[in-house]
Amino acid sequence: MEMITNVSEYEVIAKEKLPKMVYDYYASGAEDQWTLKENRNAFSRILFRPRILVDVSKINMMTTILGFRISMPIMVAPTAMQKMAHPEGECATARAASDAGTIMTLSTYANSSVEEVASTRSGIRFFQLYVHKDRNLVAQLVRRAERAGFKAIALTADTPRLGRREADIKNRFNLPPYLTLKNFEGLDLGKIDKTGDSGLASYAANQIDQSLSWKDVKWLQTITSLPILVKGVLTAEDTKLAIEAGAAGIIVSNHGARQLDYVPATIMALEEVVKAAQGKVPVFLDGGVRRGTDVFKALALGASGVFIGRPVVFALAVDGEAGVRKVLQMLHDELELTMALSGCRSLKEITRNHVVADWDHPRVLPRL
Ligand code: FNR
Repeated sequence: MEMITNVSEYEVIAKEKLPKMVYDYYASGAEDQWTLKENRNAFSRILFRPRILVDVSKINMMTTILGFRISMPIMVAPTAMQKMAHPEGECATARAASDAGTIMTLSTYANSSVEEVASTRSGIRFFQLYVHKDRNLVAQLVRRAERAGFKAIALTADTPRLGRREADIKNRFNLPPYLTLKNFEGLDLGKIDKTGDSGLASYAANQIDQSLSWKDVKWLQTITSLPILVKGVLTAEDTKLAIEAGAAGIIVSNHGARQLDYVPATIMALEEVVKAAQGKVPVFLDGGVRRGTDVFKALALGASGVFIGRPVVFALAVDGEAGVRKVLQMLHDELELTMALSGCRSLKEITRNHVVADWDHPRVLPRL
């Protein structure tokens, strides 16, 4: 295998390696996939204003997230069904994140249970929650995550229904029969039934509670003492509601462009959310982060850290745990280099003045 020098290269190799149905499930966005492209493109509308002749012989990328000290502001987003990528699935991801000294978020729809992931290796882990209609089941799941030592709940709030991912519909996407949604095994919900279209979309339509609302963020706090991150915020209005509802943090996310198409790239929505949060809670971002420069830009616009989704599953598909470790290492090294070349020795030194966005200088274009 040719030497891999950046995170995006894993996707090209994974595409060759994975069955089409699986690759498409991991790669796709919703409908026209406009937001999918935009999640990447928008980063190129932000340029650097690097400072020179700063002593950058020592760079410190450590940070503290919800009180937990981690090696870098780059964490693993929840992505469902990782055993389709590699037989060790989420456990391999958990080990790699732990080795990198960072946080992994486990999906509700993982192929490995909270207990299995917890027993892989010590590490700081968050649990992503889809709220099912059966609230007893939800409470049970949250309690299991808490008991297994997970440190926070990332409540996914942008998925009352699944977005239209047309490749999944064409492929009649289904979980391969030898895999289950392990957190639900034994509850008769571990399997996704075959349907005429996307099996996952039908599963979600049957199980996920479409009536979920802000009052449920409060309800969640009555069943767990874990801090709650609201995942899927894109506006100032919802930022304020999330804080009022008791969120410990906010994840600016468009679900990797898999839900509502034509929402802005997350990096475009970030500043609005950061301003509305007024420093009351940390704001995180996911969506299209593929380079250390992307991470720097997000931090410069006020994020406390970022999460990566697809790079993890593609690296897992290509090289298992070692692949995920390498993705995290490459992003770590790229961020470190970006900081050195911008004159920032610590994350605190990264400021809004280190970047200029194309929306900073609105120009009135002459009409022809
Ligand atoms: C996701 N995402 C997701 N989010 C969530 O809250 N629960 C989940 O189970 C999943 N599953 C999932 C599967 C796959 C294959 C993808 C690509 C994404 C969304 C994920 O947490 C995150 O928001 C995006 O993946 C971030 O964008 P990038 O890094 O993939 O561009």
